[in-house]
Amino acid sequence: MAKKIIITIDGTSSTGKSTLAKRIAKKLGYLYIDSGAMYRALTYYAISNNIISKGFINKEVLINDLSKLEIDFRKGSLSECLEIHLDGLSVENKIRSLKVSDLVSQLAAIDEVRTHMVKIQHSLGQNKGVVMDGRDIGTVVFPKAELKFFLEASAETRAKRRFDELKIIDKEISYEEVFKNINLRDFQDINRSNSPLKKASDAVLINTENLSLVELENEISNHISLVLSNSL
Ligand code: CDP
Repeated sequence: MAKKIIITIDGTSSTGKSTLAKRIAKKLGYLYIDSGAMYRALTYYAISNNIISKGFINKEVLINDLSKLEIDFRKGSLSECLEIHLDGLSVENKIRSLKVSDLVSQLAAIDEVRTHMVKIQHSLGQNKGVVMDGRDIGTVVFPKAELKFFLEASAETRAKRRFDELKIIDKEISYEEVFKNINLRDFQDINRSNSPLKKASDAVLINTENLSLVELENEISNHISLVLSNSL
């Protein structure tokens, strides 16, 4: 049987990480883990419980609640991918709103939050056979992963992609607010002191600006085949 590896895909928002990660995981029969969904789910919880709002965060309550909250991935009804659950309930279709997106990076910069999430991510990857996407997966979570990718594209292209996705679920949304959110999150994610977004030195850098999904998948698949054949 082929050896199982860990594949990490990091990069800024809307570079195509999750779409790509899902397709690769399906092809390889691996687990797909959307690490951003964990930070989004916690943000959704914090908003729902008045622990965070614009310009305010009750860190003490958040950290206390975090130790009691059950955050995990389980089978759901929306797709064949695993869905993020909070205390046994799927919140997969509640975490992509702009309200969550506007606050998530602030919460993701908190040391205790990151330590907690990384612990869960380590346990999900312990048997390998995982494709995980996020911001710090190749640098901090799995620095010894067999294959790492870092995706990039211009802010305009990424905002357009995200706007096209979001307008299906939110008719009121504007391109300008999506563009603003993407730039704000990029800034916060790159400049935080704990696990900032950066390319791991051994990650393969891919600019997705002018690549179709099929072209991107082909490029990534070539790297995977090479690594898998070398690890036989
Ligand atoms: O889908 P998108 O790329 O816009 O974002 P996401 O992957 O859902 O992540 C949402 C936010 O969670 C990011 O902007 C980061 O602030 C945070 N995040 C993180 O800090 N570390 C990760 N490994 C994944 C996400």
